[in-house]
Amino acid sequence: AHSFPIYTQEEVTKHRTLADGVWVTYKGGVYDITDFVAMHPGGNKIMLAAGGALEPFWALYAVHGQDHVLEILSEYKVGEL
Ligand code: HEM
Repeated sequence: AHSFPIYTQEEVTKHRTLADGVWVTYKGGVYDITDFVAMHPGGNKIMLAAGGALEPFWALYAVHGQDHVLEILSEYKVGEL
């Protein structure tokens, strides 16, 4: 089992540009998606969630409610809130 560092929301919020790194949260996990941004099938919209929670955006774009999307996200986990 892999144990992840704990981050505050304030620390996550500091990461909302490609230069500073792009972090998001989802269900208590923290993800550094910097390297995924350019690969995102939905293009630059992904930056709307930078530094914050994915849930409100994924509620609008239901295409994300699939196992293969969560598998991609899981590869980028760096910590927990
Ligand atoms: C599509 C991943 C964040 C908007 C997709 C698809 C994947 C993906 C894999 C293709 C799904 C499929 O067709 O089966 C991710 C991941 C995200 C993320 C891993 C976060 C780490 C976001 C955010 C938004 C967004 C925050 C909007 C603010 C879209 C849209 C599409 C899409 C509009 C549809 C693109 C199209 O088919 O034309 N995303 N996404 N995504 N995503 Fe995201």
